[in-house]
Amino acid sequence: MKYHSIAIDGPAASGKSTVAKELAKKLDYIYIDTGAMYRATTYKALSIGVDLSNPYAYSFLDTTEFVFKFGELFMDGVNMTVLNRRKEVSDNVSLVASHVPVRNKLVMLQQNIAKQNNVVMDGRDIGTVVLKNADVKYFMVASVEVRAERRLEELKKYGTNFTLHELMDDIKRRDDYDSSREYNPLKQANDAILIDTSEISIKEAVALIYNKFKSKLKGESYNGN
Ligand code: DC
Repeated sequence: MKYHSIAIDGPAASGKSTVAKELAKKLDYIYIDTGAMYRATTYKALSIGVDLSNPYAYSFLDTTEFVFKFGELFMDGVNMTVLNRRKEVSDNVSLVASHVPVRNKLVMLQQNIAKQNNVVMDGRDIGTVVLKNADVKYFMVASVEVRAERRLEELKKYGTNFTLHELMDDIKRRDDYDSSREYNPLKQANDAILIDTSEISIKEAVALIYNKFKSKLKGESYNGN
């Protein structure tokens, strides 16, 4: 059986996860938040107390279980949604995500999930590395101000106290780090469509991707695939 996939990449807080979640719900696909896997890895590395700057300190990933249920990540049976939003996780996740062994391991896990399920996956390297053959690929951007405001609203739900300025600084710092890392940086795939969510609403972005995806699938069935 052929499984379908939608790849959504973009910088921090560009609206990817809200759009991806909504799409997954509409399509009854599994939503895979790959950023949550890098965050959970960071959380575990901090808990164990390994040297975060050592790319080979992450062998614990070989015995770590990642499961997505109802759009949320469970690591070793623990729901990571709130833990992943901790400041020390946000402060260190870009460093952890820059290590080749970490990326190779998590990319393999993500590809395995997509081999056995219909997925909407979001991250930084989904269209370029993880799901090069995704049915449709999108790259979402938005101004730093719009993104920081969105993140502030989201974090309020978890009772975390950040100011708008702190969030703007965090977003800019992670954008720089994620786009300039050597291995699989944040980059728009050649065949990805650009969406600026400072210009259109999240709802419009969902409708746009949904329609494009549906017409792609229809085209495939007309061709007898
Ligand atoms: O989407 P997010 O902000 O939760 O992602 C957290 C960090 O993980 C982000 O700063 C970069 C990294 N990341 C990555 O390198 N590759 C991905 N596919 C997803 C996230």
